[in-house]
Amino acid sequence: MQITIFGAGYVGLVTAACLSSLGHIVRCVDVSTERISAIQQAKAPFHEPGLNELIRRGLERKTLILATDSAGALTGSALSIIAVGTPQSGDTVDLRFLTSAASSIGRELRKHGSYHVVVVKSTVQPQTTDTFVRQVLERESGMTAGQFGLCMNPEFLREGSAVDDFMNPDRIIVGEWNRKSGDVLMQLYANFGCPKLRTTLRNAELIKYTSNSLLATLISFSNEIAGLCEAMPDSDIETVMDGVHLDRRFATSVSGEAVRPGILHYLRAGCGFGGSCLPKDVNALREFASRVQARTPLLDAVMNVNERRPDQVVGLLQQTAGGVQGKRIALLGLAFKPGTDDLRDSPAISIARRLHQAGAAICAHDPLISVAQVRAGSIDIALRSSVEDVLRGADAAVIATAWPQFRELNWGELVKLMAHPIIIDARNLLNETYFSSDVTYRSVGRGYAVVKEAL
Ligand code: UGA
Repeated sequence: MQITIFGAGYVGLVTAACLSSLGHIVRCVDVSTERISAIQQAKAPFHEPGLNELIRRGLERKTLILATDSAGALTGSALSIIAVGTPQSGDTVDLRFLTSAASSIGRELRKHGSYHVVVVKSTVQPQTTDTFVRQVLERESGMTAGQFGLCMNPEFLREGSAVDDFMNPDRIIVGEWNRKSGDVLMQLYANFGCPKLRTTLRNAELIKYTSNSLLATLISFSNEIAGLCEAMPDSDIETVMDGVHLDRRFATSVSGEAVRPGILHYLRAGCGFGGSCLPKDVNALREFASRVQARTPLLDAVMNVNERRPDQVVGLLQQTAGGVQGKRIALLGLAFKPGTDDLRDSPAISIARRLHQAGAAICAHDPLISVAQVRAGSIDIALRSSVEDVLRGADAAVIATAWPQFRELNWGELVKLMAHPIIIDARNLLNETYFSSDVTYRSVGRGYAVVKEAL
């Protein structure tokens, strides 16, 4: 099939590269010349395993075509996918890019001779596709919905495993204006064997927000119980959650082997959720709910628990180290989660900001974060290129991103580089067995006698 994708950002570029590798002819349009010229060199503007290779192959085989101009972008194409950003702007969702993409498609539809389906893949609040997007398309094309097709097809890609998630999806949701629109999108996904759910545009929009809100709720639930454990000596969130996970409704066994569903990963404590999706989507759903006069006390609390989490980590550090004023604190990890170089809404950055306000000097190491990124974020953090360098002379260290390679380090030797061997594990990545008794190791969600006494 010939497809046009609007937006070469995270979702658009992964979708374009994957679909082109499956033999479709994909034209990907983005207004940024800088972005498009980097992609022309097979360099994605963000880190995503396997993506550059797919781009390179697509360019070589000419199944991936890049453009900055939308004029003629629909020529020969059966389907347009809108994958532009829908950032949060204050309390609302900024529809600037969506408007611009829908307007371009509408204008192109005027010249387009055959039936064409417009698919919204960007995450949008319920009722956006069948009202806002439809109206822009109708106004610019002079046609009415039905003469062109309209679908909403949310994405469920996780940063760090987006290519694999696209190629092996757990579900495909096809929200459709009418059956004819959905039939074309179903053809695009004909070779994917996963469950496919066809539904209304509004349900499709809501499925996306509900999925991310559920993940956020599980994390905040775990963090709320962790906060409770932190207030009670001799309690430990890891053991509490291990016990909860053993419920046979969570952990089934297949041929005698225990199977742990991936969702259980979200029922673990840490320093909160971040990234470009979970916080934004929970807030957008709350904002939408208030507009239709529905209440969301649970989702309000989910955000409230999350916003407090970095403070609780800093509090644990302050109690353990006897304050942080004038001290040098090493941050291990800056990205919002391992496997990505994304700093957006990262709990590690929130921790750094709070430490900075409390008068600490912060240095950090993250396997994928560059000095330029830290500068762009205008955060006062001295970036170090190795774990050794960041720990050397530090008064305490905070593990803020759960990079698995941190587990493989020789901690016995590394702590010797520190001025004071204090480790705060905000992701519960390690445990006491990594350290000798002269190291003060504190993980989150534990009631330490010292914390209780300090209170
Ligand atoms: C999330 C969803 O998992 C995807 O299904 C969805 O498609 C995507 O948003 C999106 O809307 O585009 P992602 O933002 O890549 O994907 O991140 P997750 O792996 O879900 O992690 C989100 C945050 O929760 C991270 O800050 C992570 O560290 C945190 N987290 C995750 C925890 O604090 N605890 C956990 O147990 C798991």
